Amino acid sequence: MESNSSNTSGSNSTPSDSGSTTGNDTAIAIVLIIVGGIVIVIIAFIIYKCVKKCLRRRKRVELHSGTASSIDEGTTPNNLETSGAAVGFSQVELESMDRFLAEILQERPIKFTSFHLKSFTENFSEKIGSGGFGVVYKGQLPNGIPIAVKVLNSNMDKRAEEQFMAEVGTIGRTYHLHLVRLYGFCFEPTVKALVYEYMENGSLEKHLFSSEKKIGFDKLNEIAIGTAKGIRYLHEECQHRIVHYDIKPGNVLLTVSFSPKVADFGLAKLCDRENTHFTITGARGTPGYAAPELWMPLPVTHKCDVYSFGMLLFEIIGRRRNFDLELQSKEWYPRWVWQKFEIGEIDVVLTIADIEEKYREKAERICKVALWCVQYRPDERPTMSSVVRMLEGEQEIKDPADPFQYMVAHSLESIATSSTGTTADYSSGAARASSSL
Ligand SMILES: Nc1ncnc2c1ncn2[C@@H]1O[C@H](COP(=O)(O)OP(=O)(O)OP(=O)(O)O)[C@@H](O)[C@H]1O
Ligand SMILES: [Mg+2]
Repeated sequence: MESNSSNTSGSNSTPSDSGSTTGNDTAIAIVLIIVGGIVIVIIAFIIYKCVKKCLRRRKRVELHSGTASSIDEGTTPNNLETSGAAVGFSQVELESMDRFLAEILQERPIKFTSFHLKSFTENFSEKIGSGGFGVVYKGQLPNGIPIAVKVLNSNMDKRAEEQFMAEVGTIGRTYHLHLVRLYGFCFEPTVKALVYEYMENGSLEKHLFSSEKKIGFDKLNEIAIGTAKGIRYLHEECQHRIVHYDIKPGNVLLTVSFSPKVADFGLAKLCDRENTHFTITGARGTPGYAAPELWMPLPVTHKCDVYSFGMLLFEIIGRRRNFDLELQSKEWYPRWVWQKFEIGEIDVVLTIADIEEKYREKAERICKVALWCVQYRPDERPTMSSVVRMLEGEQEIKDPADPFQYMVAHSLESIATSSTGTTADYSSGAARASSSL
């Protein structure tokens, strides 16, 4: 019975064991297939990623070698213009462009390649103007923001390079309603450029000395106040004091609504707020606007900008250059204004400047502030915050002393010399002025 039963149980167990073995095998096979499948998918994904990365790297290398070759063909913008068709935005890495635009929002200057600049300016096709340091072109960022690209002269010497660094280092991180924004720069062995926000109405110089008189006196008064606020920010409000050195109508740019922004910090100097005096090497500024201490062996402070701003105020009042050989009267305008003020005939100045009766009070204010700003002794010149308050009628303006007394001993013409010069030709102008003093 037992043996039967054991037999029976033995005969029953065999098929059942073989059934479970088959089931286990199937389960193992299924798990292996699934795991194998997952491994294959992971390997395929890794290979895909690697290939994509390699392709992207190769594309980047091509992009840079493309840039280099276009530069090799020539170093000037003209050469860039003729070195092939414009490169479309599609070829510019969109990913890095997104990063660039994000950095613009974070107010950090961006490093562009000359390839990008070529793309933004459609091969440097629209020239806006040129100055002592290079040529300015109109362009557009991929998101439609208009820009002005200043391509610096290729024969950049050490000083110019220093100025380039000053602009990128100090101004790239300086943001104010009345300062032109620096979006970025390009610093390649043969192409150095600065990328600014585009100012639709160009420079104040263009409007101030044109016979068209597109801007009325009230707007000019606003422009004077806005410019003063921009300089006040540089001197008194930003982290480090920044001395501009080259305040003049050509460096005040106007937005579409004629709001002013101070431009061109190429000569800017960053100084310690506590360290008020400093020495400078080489002539700076533009003749006619540069304070006496800039071309005489005297200590220089931020007050040299106040002097230049005063000269700008005279030109705003007269709507003429301070020293204009083409005019019948060869007199230096600031000194003539002083002479009229001294004998109580400021009205004559305003009548000749064609200023309407309703603006006379504001205009007289500008005249007096200008006379204060151009005082010979820097410590007698007001601070820019005081200038703003005086221009806005919030601070009483005392009668200024004669700012030009020091000139009695010198030839007036030599001091006002070359007032139409640009920054770059100042060295010779300064040399002339100081040799004749
Ligand atoms: N951000 C800008 N937006 C619009 N136009 C500009 C901009 N920057 C410069 N320009 C124009 O380009 C021209 C040349 O400017 P640039 O600064 O090179 O020379 P400048 O100011 O005349 O002389 P300097 O070299 O002494 O500063 C100017 O007439 C100015 O109107
Ligand atoms: Mg300029």
